[in-house]
Amino acid sequence: MANQTQAALEPLLKLAEQAAQNSYSPYSNFRVGAALRLTNGEIVTGTNVENVSYGLTICAERAALVRAVSQFGPEIRIEAVAVANLNGLPSPPCGACRQVLAEFILPDAPVAFPTKEGTRIMPFSEVLPLGFEMKLK
Ligand code: THU
Repeated sequence: MANQTQAALEPLLKLAEQAAQNSYSPYSNFRVGAALRLTNGEIVTGTNVENVSYGLTICAERAALVRAVSQFGPEIRIEAVAVANLNGLPSPPCGACRQVLAEFILPDAPVAFPTKEGTRIMPFSEVLPLGFEMKLK
């Protein structure tokens, strides 16, 4: 089952890796790519764009998400995520990206990312348990 999921996500992982080729990361040299599969069938990729201020750096995951909303509108839902880097290092999505993904992602969506042991795939609900939600009523 886990292997089947991995096989299904392989094309998305490839696109994430390709997106990482466009990384602008002169400060860390860490080249990251992300690919989102949307419920409308579209795939949107992003890469990290660093800034001399460091703090204004945009991660690959958020770059992809902002691009997806910009291209397809606020109704998009993310059904799968793949993250890759060209440095051969682990890179699970950072905390900020998890919270931003939470806004548009299905709780069961698989999230694939590199670990020391190879690609790991987890449902988003396990990647971000107890994400912030605003319940006004
Ligand atoms: N980075 C990402 O793009 N995604 C992640 O999930 C983790 C970190 C980027 C930000 C920065 O450009 C570089 O990796 C090093 O932190």
